[in-house]
Amino acid sequence: MTKRLWIETVGCQMNVLDSELVVAALRRQGWELATASSEADAVFYNTCSVRQHAEDKIYSALGRIRQEKLRRPELVIGVIGCMAQKDQLLVRSRAPWVDLVVGPGQLHQIPTLVADVLAGGGPRLEVSLDRKAGSRNAVTLSFESYDPDRDPTMRPTPFQALVRTQTGCDKFCAFCVVPHVRGPEQARSVASIVAETQKLVAEGCLEITLIGQTVNSYRWNEGGKILRLSDLLEQLNSIDGLERIKFVTNYPRDMTDDLIAAVRDLPKVCPYLHVPAQHGCDAVLSRMKRGYTIGEYMEMLHRVRESLPHAAVTSDFIVGFCGETDAEFTRSLDLVRSANFKNSYIFKYSPRPGTKAFERQIDDVPEAVKRGRNQMLLDAQTVVSLAGNQPFIGTRQQVLVEGLSAREEKNGGLPSVDGQAQLMGRTPCDRIVVFHAPLRLIGRLVDVDITATAAWSLVGVVADGLAEAKLLDELPSPASASALYAIALPTRTPAGAARA
Ligand code: SAH
Ligand code: F3S
Repeated sequence: MTKRLWIETVGCQMNVLDSELVVAALRRQGWELATASSEADAVFYNTCSVRQHAEDKIYSALGRIRQEKLRRPELVIGVIGCMAQKDQLLVRSRAPWVDLVVGPGQLHQIPTLVADVLAGGGPRLEVSLDRKAGSRNAVTLSFESYDPDRDPTMRPTPFQALVRTQTGCDKFCAFCVVPHVRGPEQARSVASIVAETQKLVAEGCLEITLIGQTVNSYRWNEGGKILRLSDLLEQLNSIDGLERIKFVTNYPRDMTDDLIAAVRDLPKVCPYLHVPAQHGCDAVLSRMKRGYTIGEYMEMLHRVRESLPHAAVTSDFIVGFCGETDAEFTRSLDLVRSANFKNSYIFKYSPRPGTKAFERQIDDVPEAVKRGRNQMLLDAQTVVSLAGNQPFIGTRQQVLVEGLSAREEKNGGLPSVDGQAQLMGRTPCDRIVVFHAPLRLIGRLVDVDITATAAWSLVGVVADGLAEAKLLDELPSPASASALYAIALPTRTPAGAARA
């Protein structure tokens, strides 16, 4: 009988992509996706360990699934990804009902491992070497990049795809567990990234997002010539049928002029740059071991603004890092007020075992102070974001329509009688746009006239009303609307991923 999988994903886009690929690998073995964990033969948690909060979520999910395991001992429970690598034996000592603990460097083994467990082989732990456990080469080899063939039906939306440029990270920011759980930085070849993108485009993909922990540090040695992200972008830009190329996450020091020029000159490359500053104060940046000063960050930003005046720049910030004083925190506020970020993700510092900050610095900012600073920074960013969106009113924006708006999804996601719904999409600069339109626009590029804005989104109407009128004529009868809806709706990745 067909086996069914339920997978929950917590974390960054790397984890979202890993889940997609794991599901695709199991589908090739005849597995299907379950509609609920209670109906699944295997339940996987693809986990993040960047902050404690993400791990807590997984441990409480493991607590909940325990009842199901007691009822059905044959249910295979897997913890895969970053937390599996970080906690290793701890996972099973806290939750002995877990059968599989598989790190991000061993995901390719999952079909075999699941089969082993189902055959009664008992629990399995498969993880990579610790970064200090051997030579760089040995550690690198123990983290296998996982990029098997894709299964187009498994993407969150069929017209968008994440494409990995490199795995791991070598920057070792003092607070960050990523270099430990994802291993040394390893680039994929330009040829394999281009070939994968061509295949995705042939399957109907309009937009790809290149993902790497520090995507702009990308280097590939092609017969003695070093190819950089700008070279890769140039090759991808010439793929017919591909409309948009995005890339995340950028490391400030590697935002070189060739990359900025590529974004300026290559029409498919979106003017959207996520370049986390993390903090606004030199002393804290130094304690964070980020490798740049605010002066250097501002110089980088200046170069970006000079060449790309319309580009959206976004940032991450950590508040309440070890020893952060009120005066130091104020520098982050100053940066947010002056840098004109489109938006910022703001995180309260969470000490991570294994990192330099955990070992050598003291997490001395009280939780209530972290919370207060988080709110202050968010409030400052909200003001900036609102102001930054104002000039869009009255403009026409090209939007890739992704699906229902968050509000519509919350309402149960059924289209109104006229077959229309509140949809959402994104501009090239990654601004969210919501508008009322027929569901059949999902997956298309449309022009939208912006009529109003909020801090985190723009509101608009499909340009000219023309498209709308024409599409209304073409609308299916109510009977077939639900069939259309099922096709048009982006199939969610197994379970929505949360940025924890
Ligand atoms: N380069 C990666 C960064 C991964 S972590 C990327 O692709 O985004 C994402 C963000 O989480 C970081 O930019 C940082 O702002 C935040 N972060 C990392 N470690 C953290 C910690 N220990 N506590 C709080 N926030 C953290
Ligand atoms: Fe983490 Fe710094 Fe790398 S934030 S992913 S160690 S660039």
